[in-house]
Formats: sequence, C-alpha cells, structure tokens
Amino acid sequence: MRIADGQGLTFDDVLLKPRLSRVRSRSEVDTSTWFTRRIRLNIPLVSSPMDTVTEHMMAIALARLGGIGIIHRFTSIERQVAEIRKVKRAENIVIRDPYSISPDATVGEARRLMEEKGVSGLLVVGEDGRLKGIVTSRDILFQGDDVPVREVMTPRERMVVAHEEIDLESAKKLLWRHRVEKLPIVDEDWRVKGLITAADIIKKIRYPNAARDRKGRLLVGAAVGIRGDYLERAEKLYEAEADALVIDVAHGHMERALEVIKELKKAFGEDIDVVGGNIATYEGARDVIAMGSDAVRVGIGPGSTCTTRIVAGVGVPQLTAIMEAYKAASEADVPVIADGGIRNPGDVVKALAAGASTVMIGGLFAGTDESPGPIVLRNGKRYKVFRGMASLSARVGKEAVTKGVEDTEVAEYSYSTEGVEAFVEYKGSVEDIVKRLVAGLRSGMSYLGAFDIEELRLNAEFIVISGASIRESYPHDVILW
Ligand code: XMP
Repeated sequence: MRIADGQGLTFDDVLLKPRLSRVRSRSEVDTSTWFTRRIRLNIPLVSSPMDTVTEHMMAIALARLGGIGIIHRFTSIERQVAEIRKVKRAENIVIRDPYSISPDATVGEARRLMEEKGVSGLLVVGEDGRLKGIVTSRDILFQGDDVPVREVMTPRERMVVAHEEIDLESAKKLLWRHRVEKLPIVDEDWRVKGLITAADIIKKIRYPNAARDRKGRLLVGAAVGIRGDYLERAEKLYEAEADALVIDVAHGHMERALEVIKELKKAFGEDIDVVGGNIATYEGARDVIAMGSDAVRVGIGPGSTCTTRIVAGVGVPQLTAIMEAYKAASEADVPVIADGGIRNPGDVVKALAAGASTVMIGGLFAGTDESPGPIVLRNGKRYKVFRGMASLSARVGKEAVTKGVEDTEVAEYSYSTEGVEAFVEYKGSVEDIVKRLVAGLRSGMSYLGAFDIEELRLNAEFIVISGASIRESYPHDVILW
C-alpha cells in the first residue's frame, strides 16, 4: 500500500489564469480539433454512448454543429446499425444508393416505403437497373393504393437528370432552373448511379461547420463492448461505415479490454479508428495506446450518474486524470477524450487546457429534443429520464437485449450497480446547449490569448482555489431571478 504523490484535482478545484492576449474578437479563434488520430472535428464536443443520450437524432444534430455523437450499444446489432445508417443518410452530396421501386409496384407499396424510409420520393427503376421515372409523395397524394406506380410516375423523358461528373454548383443551378427537388445521376444507359436532392444542398449551406467524412456525409461513432457479440457487432458497424469504434467499458485498463483494441485494429486496420478506455492514469493511457488505440477515453467516476467512486471506492479526480493521460498520449500524438463531469462551459475550457482534445458529454445533453425518450410531466414541469449505463434499470435492459432476463435475476444486479437513474429537466434543442458551450470556449481561449486549442493548452496556467474562492466564482449576494 502507498499513497500517491500530489493531490487529485477536478474542475471546480482550479481556475485558469488570464494572460496578455492578441485575440481581438472571439470569432477569430479556431475551435477545430482531433477526435481520434485521423478524425478532425470543428468543435471539441462528443456525446456519450448512453441510451438516454445518443441515437441518430443526437448524432445528426452534433455532427451538423461540428462535433460527433457515439451511438450507444445497448440494443440489438441491427438497431445500432440502423442508427448509424440514418446518420450516414441524413445528409449527402450524392446519395449513392437511393431508395427505388419497381414500375409494377403499387401506389400503396410506394406510400409504405416512403413512410418507412422517411423520404418524399422514390426513383422508379426497372429490373434491368435502368431509371424509368420518379414518383414523389405529391404524385400519389390522391391516388388509390392499387394503382400501378408506372401510371402515376413522372417518366424519365420528362425528368431532369445529370451524369457522374456533375459538381455541386451545376447541380444547384439545374435544380433551380427546372424547379425540381431531386436530381438523379445516371450513366449513358440510364443506369442509376446516385441522387442529389435540394434538401441535402440546403442543409449543407445551413450547417457550414458540419463534421463530415470524405464522401460529405455526417461523421458518427459507434460503441462496442468487449464480450458476447462485440466482434460481430464491430464488423456490422464497420460495414455500415461508422467512422470510429469506441470501446465502451468501465475499466479500460483491464487485460481483456486491451486485447480487444488489438483485435479490432487487426480486424479493420487503418480503415476505422478505434478508441480505447476508460482509463484515469498515465499507465492506463500508455497501455491503451500501446495496443494501437487511435484516441484515449479518460474518466473513471466523474460522470453525473456515476456511483463508481462511492460503490467501489475507485477513481481519479477528472482534471488530474486528464493531465496524467495527456502525458502518455502526447508522447504518441494520440488525442485525449475527457469523458464525464462537464457541468459548465468553463469545464470544457479547463478540460482542453489540461490536455484533452475533445470532451464527452452525457448529462448536459440529456433531456433535450434530440436525446431518446419521451418528455414526462411531474408537478407541472417537464423532464426526461437520464440513466447511468451501470444503473439497475440499464443493466437489466442490457441483459434483456442480449440474453433475455428473468425478473428473479434483477435482485442480483441490485447489489452491483455503479450508476443511478434520474430525471433531468427538459431543455429544448441541444443546439442551444452546444452554442453556449462553444461561446464559453471561445471566451476562455480569448482570455488565454489562444488562437487554437493547442495554444490554449500551451498558454494554460491553472491556479488551485479554495472553497471560499468557489463561492466567490458563482453569483453571490444577489437574489437570482
Ligand atoms: P456526464 O457527467 O457528462 O458523464 O453525464 C457521462 C459519462 O458517464 C459515464 N457513465 C457512467 N459511469 N456508471 C459510471 O460509473 C454509470 O452507470 C455510467 N453511465 C455513464 C460514461 O463514461 C459517460 O460518457
């Protein structure tokens, strides 16, 4: 037994000292950063793979704003894959495999397919793979279900189409000139090669800061475990073109978790980035990196729903954990993801100044329009459920997904939970929260004279503060509205 040197610190224990700044305006600073060794984001925000935080809506919203969401793994492989596909299809420059229907199908079938896929039009394609026409929701509005699609579609002779080489500007002009919303791409034999839609172009203009892959689609990550179906899951997520696989375990500095990093890197090579963790020490980061991890996820117990530190007596205060991990990660040029404990915009600034390249957020993003789950009313106020993934209800749900669980097994879990289930106030759109966090970050960077996140770290000098200083930091001696 020994006592570690120094003292563990977390966000509220410190402040950053201001310094001479050349930054004239907060809009001048660059908030782009590395999520993993190869994935670049425009803002350093990542959403947690928790079932009350990140499914496709959260991931789409975050990627549009420049960050990335990690789709949780507490569901079947098929559903997790479907969530990834929804993000990947949310915005395209060119949709490579547009939904289509046969000319012999009925209007009823077309209506069902449009509803199921959430699209407003289908390409009509013959058995030979050649474009025959297009059918949109407007074409079938007042048509009976039994009418064949060929009778209501706009035939290809009356359609505007483009060829593979078309660029975005020309596509925009064509769509506008002909007042159409969909532009199929075909080869000389009318074989379908893709589809450009006005809706996608509008989104691209509306979200210039979006985090995109090489094909112009939104970035998204996916969580995997280290047992059971994890390898098959990883394969399917890889096939669905998730951009990163995030190994999602409480104790990432466990031999089994380290082996899985190696296994996934071996299986998929440089084609997909793998994130190891969670760890909270120099040695943990070093070992995760040695296995080939493309980023290190840091945090044992700082999360808003975590009880690990209470139940197991284990953890490292988050700011110290980030600094320790950064020591190992910077030697290998691998980014650090600071996971858990972010409550205020200033915490993001402190985490990045301590060495993180991104922060992962659960609780702050829970209770939004984009987080899964219904709004519930309690005493006239609106709430959403938010739960730790090691909480009793989440653990029972998780087992039910993979194995099927009997009520009698619940009692056993109740001894070993390391998280809580809670209500969080309904907060509206996540966009407002992201804007508040990014505004705080820009402000912090300007106080430290940092034009980018690397400079923020280089310029950072923390000062440890007392309990009295914390009280001074919050509004005091006034009656808050
Ligand atoms: P925040 O503070 O943003 O933290 O809500 C989110 C992170 O918390 C972790 N997490 C848990 N940790 N027991 C734990 O000890 C749990 O039940 C639990 N659920 C989530 C996770 O790392 C997440 O990203």
